[in-house]
Amino acid sequence: MRRRDWLLTSAVLPAAAPVAARAAQAGPKNIVISSANGTKACAKAMDVLKAGGDTLEAVVQGVTLVEDDPNDTSVGYGGLPNEEGIVELDASVMHGPTRRAGSVASVRNIKNVARLAKLVMEQTDHVMIVGEGATRFARAWGIPEINLLTERSRMAWMAWKQSLRDGEGNNNWTDGLDAPTPTAKQAAALRQIWPEASDEMIAWAFEVAHFPTTGTINCLALNAKGEMSGTTTTSGMAWKIPGRVGDSPIIGAGVYVDQEVGAAGSTGRGEENIRVAGAHSIVENMRHGMDPKDACLDVLKRIARNYNNDAAKLAKFDINFYALRKDGVHAGASLWSGRVLRGYMSGFQYSVNDGTGDSRLEKCVWLLERKA
Ligand code: GLY
Repeated sequence: MRRRDWLLTSAVLPAAAPVAARAAQAGPKNIVISSANGTKACAKAMDVLKAGGDTLEAVVQGVTLVEDDPNDTSVGYGGLPNEEGIVELDASVMHGPTRRAGSVASVRNIKNVARLAKLVMEQTDHVMIVGEGATRFARAWGIPEINLLTERSRMAWMAWKQSLRDGEGNNNWTDGLDAPTPTAKQAAALRQIWPEASDEMIAWAFEVAHFPTTGTINCLALNAKGEMSGTTTTSGMAWKIPGRVGDSPIIGAGVYVDQEVGAAGSTGRGEENIRVAGAHSIVENMRHGMDPKDACLDVLKRIARNYNNDAAKLAKFDINFYALRKDGVHAGASLWSGRVLRGYMSGFQYSVNDGTGDSRLEKCVWLLERKA
């Protein structure tokens, strides 16, 4: 794709009215946003807000539903494992009213790591605990340990190992753009172990084998008192080198909250986000007057600039940002307009619950147009 083929969305600077003044006009209200996989999380968080609960408790209860769900293979139980077949989880929380934060990284055998990050925030003098220390910290608090690897995720891991063996797969350092479809021989090998697996499940296993996911859920909340909090929780990049930590547990990258201004978070390839301190940069952009959409697009431009706007390199990954301003205005923004999944181009969305009904999905604005 040549540079002139790109369509950049508007990044015009917004009107210069101070954030505080705009917030005073609109007035705070209960609102929760999250990545697209968080419709149920947003609804749960909204229930907590409506019952008068704390904003951080709300988002943690929301994402706990996703951490518990074995079918979301990018978060919590059933997350895709590292290259040794072991699930390692990362999470962070930030509490606007007290300006405190907590995070955990490379945690094994503990399912609800957003809750664990909150425990680090509330019960220690630290902000971040990682690896074996985090599991021991959880154990000390009586949190049960479980095997986080489901059969579904083990199948995808085996598909990945199989494709490496056959010289067709990609390791953590490559992009998977030339991913082949599974050969009949490879599919048959998986069927020997999982005879009940559907064609769709086998195809999914090979897809994630070749396009390692960096799914994740980020969830941000504002209540009617103007209080804000956020959390991000993930199983990180599939097939990662053990101990690899992404952006999700990094305060200022995976999540950032300053309730005088707003909150932001991210999903997608964490390595890119860490290099631009994405969530913090977005909040600072809003502090200086950008609206949430432009604040996110500006940071996506910084990511593109890190690759000298080389479309071929940028095409190798996806990254999304979410921003919620203290007056309730929100945005989701993606680097690319969409992603081809199983032959179809699908656009990026984010979830919103404003307390008036079910959560809804809204379209992300995007920086670069991906042509099918
Ligand atoms: N954004 C999730 C990760 O890269 O680990």
